[in-house]
Amino acid sequence: MRRTALGITIVLWFALAFLAPLIIGAQVPSEARYVGSAECADCHPGEYERFTEHANKAKSDHSVRLMAPKLTPEELRECFECHTTGYGRPGGFRSFEETPELGHVGCEGCHGPGSVHVVTGHPDDIIGSLTLDTCRPCHEDERVQVINFKPLIYSGAH
Ligand code: HEC
Ligand code: HEC
Ligand code: HEC
Ligand code: HEC
Repeated sequence: MRRTALGITIVLWFALAFLAPLIIGAQVPSEARYVGSAECADCHPGEYERFTEHANKAKSDHSVRLMAPKLTPEELRECFECHTTGYGRPGGFRSFEETPELGHVGCEGCHGPGSVHVVTGHPDDIIGSLTLDTCRPCHEDERVQVINFKPLIYSGAH
């Protein structure tokens, strides 16, 4: 009896570990690091061009750089959370000097860190299907809502 219960627990545990990424949302390989949007340009020239030309995200460092002299380090860190790529995460933005390629919200701000995918070109190594949950951490903050933003999944990208 005990054994069966333990067996079932183990099976459930593995099933959960395997299914969790599918339930919670798409994932990238755990060793993946941020590389910056320019690394995506060769293989996705269309997305890269449209993004760089038309998305405000591609220039989201401008306002922060402009306001930086008037902000405390604490306030500045807050800006980084939403206006840069991967701040506070492994291989993500650290400072404009150290990681200039991640100073704006780039491709990986939505698609996740791309170091593995840029080598393999495999769709499983990058987050391909997105939901509005991807956008919420940056767009549903009270302060941002003052701007009255209502994201559509295909807006703000390419
Ligand atoms: C890492 C934070 C972050 C994530 C995630 C994010 N955004 Fe944004 N988004 C921003 C910032 C910051 C701006 C403002 C850039 C500026 O003007 O300086 C912005 C601007 C926009 C704009 C304004 C128009 C434009 O040209 O850029 C739209 C639309 C938008 N985002 C849609 C989305 C959608 C849809 C998603 C999810 C699929 C998303 N965003 C995910 C941070 C984010
Ligand atoms: C919770 C995420 C978040 C934080 C924190 C945040 N921003 Fe933003 N910011 C956004 C988003 C999202 C937009 C775009 C809203 C839109 O276009 O609808 C935006 C827009 C802006 C804009 C308007 C840009 C334009 O082109 O009109 C400025 C300026 C700005 N942010 C500066 C800052 C500064 C400076 C800080 C730090 C003190 C900061 N933001 C903190 C998410 C954030
Ligand atoms: C604001 C979030 C956001 C940013 C930033 C973004 N994308 Fe996307 N991307 C999307 C969404 C949304 C889709 C459609 C996903 C789906 O169909 O579920 C998508 C789809 C894609 C696809 C699949 C083909 C297609 O067009 O449907 C590729 C390739 C892609 N993006 C590459 C890029 C590259 C390269 C960059 C940077 C230059 C980038 N993306 C920046 C949101 C983003
Ligand atoms: C060496 C070439 C190469 C580079 C570099 C590259 N990709 Fe891709 N990418 C591909 C290929 C090939 C596919 C699969 C296309 C298909 O299935 O139609 C793909 C698919 C995608 C998809 C769709 C995934 C899906 O689930 O359908 C996204 C999103 C994407 N890439 C984003 C990026 C981003 C972001 C970068 C930069 C960090 C990048 N790619 C760099 C080759 C590349």
